[in-house]
Amino acid sequence: MKITLKEGIDWVGYVDWTVRDFHGYKTNNGSTYNSYLIRDEKTAVIDAVKAPYVGKLIEHIQALTALENIDYVVCNHAEPDHSGGLPDLMAACPQAELICNAKCKITLEMHYDTTSWKWNIVEDGDSISLGKRTLSFINTPMVHWPESMFTYVPEDKLLFSMDAFGQHYASAFRFDDEESLDVILQEAKTYYANIVMLYGRPVAQTMARAAELDIEMIAPSHGMIWRSHIKEVFEAYQKWVVCKPRPKVVVLYATMWHSTEKMARSILEGAQEYDVEAQLLNVDSTHATRIVTEVLDCAALAIGSPTLNNGIMPSMASVLCYMTGLRPTHKQGFAFGSYGWSKRGGPAEIGIAMEEMKIDMMRAPLRAQYVPTPEILEECRNAGRMLGKYAEQFGRT
Ligand code: FEO
Repeated sequence: MKITLKEGIDWVGYVDWTVRDFHGYKTNNGSTYNSYLIRDEKTAVIDAVKAPYVGKLIEHIQALTALENIDYVVCNHAEPDHSGGLPDLMAACPQAELICNAKCKITLEMHYDTTSWKWNIVEDGDSISLGKRTLSFINTPMVHWPESMFTYVPEDKLLFSMDAFGQHYASAFRFDDEESLDVILQEAKTYYANIVMLYGRPVAQTMARAAELDIEMIAPSHGMIWRSHIKEVFEAYQKWVVCKPRPKVVVLYATMWHSTEKMARSILEGAQEYDVEAQLLNVDSTHATRIVTEVLDCAALAIGSPTLNNGIMPSMASVLCYMTGLRPTHKQGFAFGSYGWSKRGGPAEIGIAMEEMKIDMMRAPLRAQYVPTPEILEECRNAGRMLGKYAEQFGRT
């Protein structure tokens, strides 16, 4: 197995076919932890892998060079899916200096026993020569942790972008033109929604800096390497960083005795009268990973729950906790749901959560006592029409 990005630059990472959970993100299609080996007058490893797979990383390096030849190990991001293998890798490479920024050093010291490591601390804009090539470092704070950085090789027009532009996607292939572009972009979208959405503003700043670089290839730390569709993934990111609304309505609900479900279906019917993509998602049959991916680019959103013990259904609470953390922007919507005797109850609690997410509320929570009457269901349809009408305008922009 030899996977060459550019002459002298090879992939030496690990394909994780079986991982199905990444801190709450359901990785249905596995992942990869991408590491890269650059052989020049000096030799560098770019990023490590998750701790259990460091043996494979070392094996892949040894197939190309002796470990004694490694001069540098670059750590672009300290999260353990990339740094977990560093202790074993640094121990196996006696000459290697660990290149990272000052924040990354502090973070790594909190995670691992680093007392024997040789450090080479770089600042934003610094460069290190490998001989024919240069490693240039660009700090990218909050993409995805505060210490994150890109490593750029100007001679090869190659950007090592760590989490940015990545996908949790295990594949027999490594490059974006070896698989369906639609599949890869959908995986990149799911990754963005579930990992990066909260950090839209710093990602936009990072995008602006990346746009100044002459790039022929982007090698992220997860998933496929971009060499043929850089324009497409850049354009997609430009939309995702602002959660750019599409003509799309999401009706998300939990239900107990089907009253809130009836309301949800009527809201959907109202939205469907407009030229929009309208989706009905039940929190008990749809994983939060898909829900936030659908919410990323919707224009309008209705969220409903019945009332359970004066509050909302636990499954809805779990999804709202996840979604509130990721903080989708540029949405309008409203809350809905049923109640029995509680004065506050599910719909009101949902409304509070939506306001916390800074969703522009189109109306007060829509409520039905016990079972929605035909009049309430017509009110739901009208509210759905409001969502549809609002979302439809984004098809004309
Ligand atoms: Fe792939 Fe933020 O780690």
